[in-house]
Amino acid sequence: MDSNRPIGVFDSGIGGLTVANAIRELLPKENIVYFGDTAHLPYGEKSADAIRYYCIRISKFLLEHQCKMIVIACNSASSAAYDILLDFFKERSLFVSVVDPLVDLVASSDYKKVGVIATKATVSSNAYKNKLAKAAPQINVVQLATPLLVPMIEEGFHKDDISQQIITKYLSKPALKNLDALLLACTHYPLIKKHIESYYEDKVDVIDSASPVARAVQTKLKENNLLNIVGVGEQRFFVSDYTKSFDETTRIFYNENVSLEEVSIW
Ligand code: DGL
Repeated sequence: MDSNRPIGVFDSGIGGLTVANAIRELLPKENIVYFGDTAHLPYGEKSADAIRYYCIRISKFLLEHQCKMIVIACNSASSAAYDILLDFFKERSLFVSVVDPLVDLVASSDYKKVGVIATKATVSSNAYKNKLAKAAPQINVVQLATPLLVPMIEEGFHKDDISQQIITKYLSKPALKNLDALLLACTHYPLIKKHIESYYEDKVDVIDSASPVARAVQTKLKENNLLNIVGVGEQRFFVSDYTKSFDETTRIFYNENVSLEEVSIW
């Protein structure tokens, strides 16, 4: 396979841009094709079967763009569809989920109690709980679905009293007491990381997937001799349903100007 081929990155919407951003910063020579399934957002409220169906079609689209690697930049999608995507397409592309890099990071720590906040789909899949039970059975893992956080962030409420109140309401639940670390198991949540850290007064490690996933991408490309070492990476951003509001929201998720192209794949 040619290392000049792009990395495909997909999410239910534009939250996965936090992961694309980290990949771009770490690997600026890589070409990126991003797909946001804005027609079906939010995945966090969908059944596992529906999410799998969407992910298979999106992966086909990214393979049509010759992607050497597909990064599932959505926790709900990674939790529901990683295994089936490997079954279907592992001969044609490398795959990176957002769950495994965080699990590996936590498994190499000395944490005793770790919290996971995520969408309903991610929590009900038990992906983090099951993988951590295998990789680090000594860690007590507690999960909490925090469904209001995605629409709150999408609507731009991530720096004010409303967001502070919602964050406090969730994080003060008894299950999340006495944590050593909290995993932000949703690709939207890096945008409220600072608020969460200040809620804990920096006494709890707050960990998001963007940088660990970018490092996992780098490692896997290196292992497969597929790192692009020439030129400056080009980027394209597709969505399945274009709205002006998505266009505007990209600015809070990505450090560079993003021009969204609508594509009909359904
Ligand atoms: N990006 C999704 C995730 O990481 C959250 C948004 C959604 O529910 O579609 O789970």
